[in-house]
Amino acid sequence: MNFKEILAKIDPQKIPVHVAIIMDGNGRWAKKKKLKRINGHKKGVEAVRKIVEASREVGVKYLTVYAFSTENWKRSKLEVNYLVKLIIDSLLNEIDSLIENGVNIRFIGSRKNLTSSYSKKVEDTCRKSWHNDKLFLQVAMNYGGRKEILDSVNQILIKMKNGEIETAEITEKMISENLYSTGTPDPDLFIRTSGEQRISNFLLWQSAYSEFWFTDTLWPDFTKEEYLKAILEFQNRNRRFGGR
Ligand code: FPP
Repeated sequence: MNFKEILAKIDPQKIPVHVAIIMDGNGRWAKKKKLKRINGHKKGVEAVRKIVEASREVGVKYLTVYAFSTENWKRSKLEVNYLVKLIIDSLLNEIDSLIENGVNIRFIGSRKNLTSSYSKKVEDTCRKSWHNDKLFLQVAMNYGGRKEILDSVNQILIKMKNGEIETAEITEKMISENLYSTGTPDPDLFIRTSGEQRISNFLLWQSAYSEFWFTDTLWPDFTKEEYLKAILEFQNRNRRFGGR
């Protein structure tokens, strides 16, 4: 089935509001093609562009992609440097087109280990899109789910010390409001490519009631059509949120 045919099967009333994606398999894609790992990441950016486009077309309102985890620093220096540069270069190259297409982009993650000039460049570039509201794109960069929860709790402690919050106990709402992803609804659909079936420290707090969808497809080969298939399958799931 082509994109239009699958799109016709999708119920516009039941589009997942927020889709989160672990874009896995770039390295294996490159290896299969006897290319260097970095070529896999380069090709992976093209897949991101297509999935952003498809999200706009189908009406997904929030899309969060895992670009670089706090664990990714363990890779070779060459690969880390390439990935960090690729992510910012992609942002700089795509920002005008993202703005034209109504996308509001922000990076979520820890600033630790990133230079302040990097963070500033990211922030200044993303800020240009913050008037947009068609699609909210979150790029998880230097992100770890446990660290995000810890940072949230520590943020609450600081606010309590400063007298900004007066409370006898920390609530779920307070933790949610102090996460990097504050203001974003929890993901409805959580996709991981490349055959791995793990959360790998991505959106741990937010994915409590997400529907998980796994595919063997390696990220650079992931298409708009397969994305729609995931959404179609999501629409056939029975979500109970712990109730009946
Ligand atoms: C996982 O494949 C992929 C990554 C760690 C990086 C993904 C990053 C991009 C596609 C660039 C995104 C850019 C923007 C602007 C959002 P892997 O290297 O773990 O693959 P493997 O498991 O096959 O080795």
